[in-house]
Amino acid sequence: MSGFDRSLLDDADETVRVRFTVNGRKVACEVAPRETLVDCLRNALELTGTHAGCEMGACGACLVQLDGQAVHACLMFAVQADGARIDTIEGLTESGVIADLQAEFHRRNALQCGFCTPGMLVNAHELLSQVTRPSRKDIRDALSGNYCRCTGYEAIVDAIDAVAKARSESGGVT
Ligand code: FES
Ligand code: FES
Repeated sequence: MSGFDRSLLDDADETVRVRFTVNGRKVACEVAPRETLVDCLRNALELTGTHAGCEMGACGACLVQLDGQAVHACLMFAVQADGARIDTIEGLTESGVIADLQAEFHRRNALQCGFCTPGMLVNAHELLSQVTRPSRKDIRDALSGNYCRCTGYEAIVDAIDAVAKARSESGGVT
């Protein structure tokens, strides 16, 4: 084919070395330029608590914290996160910062299949880091990008509301 540069095809197969700090540990991965962050976390780093649902930014299953802010890992290429600090549901669990949220979700049956739960928890953690005592409407608004096919949301909102109340009564994060 005249005018076609075959080296472009070779470039498309190349991998790029990226470095992150994931859950407090420095890691390096070889990724294809088109590989998403969620695929890199799940496949290369075996952090399968971050779920891939819609893969188009709609369902919230893939939320992780990037430099302290919740982002959709399905909407980012892994190379875009080079040098960043990433906290996944595994890291937030190990650190204990969401232990009260997890206990309340469990106590109130705020999950069934659990597919949406890591994203719900990442989002709830971000909300409660920013707003000490959100209203139920604030909680519903914050969760508007997190889809749950199982629970009907009521117990999820109840759980987050209860943790917000308990934290504000105890003067902060428990
Ligand atoms: S998988 Fe990322 S928002 Fe649905
Ligand atoms: S618990 Fe099944 S999708 Fe939410």
